[in-house]
Amino acid sequence: MPILARPFRPDEARALRDIRLQALADSPLAFAERYDVALAMGGEDFGAALAAGAVWGVFDNDCCVGMAGLNRLVGANVEHKGYVWGVFVSPAARGTGAAQALFRAIIDHARATELTVLSLGVGDFNDRAKRLYASFGFVPFGREPRAVRVDGLYIDEVLMALEL
Ligand SMILES: CC(C)(COP(=O)(O)OP(=O)(O)OC[C@H]1O[C@@H](n2cnc3c(N)ncnc32)[C@H](O)[C@@H]1OP(=O)(O)O)[C@@H](O)C(=O)NCCC(=O)NCCS
Repeated sequence: MPILARPFRPDEARALRDIRLQALADSPLAFAERYDVALAMGGEDFGAALAAGAVWGVFDNDCCVGMAGLNRLVGANVEHKGYVWGVFVSPAARGTGAAQALFRAIIDHARATELTVLSLGVGDFNDRAKRLYASFGFVPFGREPRAVRVDGLYIDEVLMALEL
């Protein structure tokens, strides 16, 4: 059966919280947010993300096994730009096409809502994620030194963009 990504529904804040916490626990070097901070956040914070309607999930029956978000920039001269965040697939679901389903959904939505460029930042160490983004046509356009600091360890990020 083909793997499909769909937007989280407004009543799925709990599922979003679960997969986000799983992401932060599994891959602490890959995200801006920290697990213990997110753990302390209430369901309303995750509900607010869903109200914007810009977070997709991949579901195996009712269980969420992957997520990715898309934020449109605010401001008349930058609202053509979208920023992809929070890309994560559960370890057991990696290599199954879940990540590809998420990116197909995001890119379709971006085109349908007249975004003309997507960007993201990816840890320099993260070859698997870089391969995924490159396979969808994202190209590196810069590097942010010390983009993330985790327990005193600095990680540079490669900035990548896709023109739609
Ligand atoms: C990044 C992530 C979403 C990719 O999803 P996935 O299901 O693992 O993706 P795939 O298995 O399709 O792998 C993507 C590409 O990396 C390749 N790959 C697999 N393992 C790899 C490895 N250890 N090193 C380098 N490339 C690897 C795959 O072959 C594929 O490339 P291809 O299309 O040229 O064959 C997932 O691995 C993940 O959630 N990682 C932890 C969180 C994370 O790093 N998120 C990104 C934050 S920017």
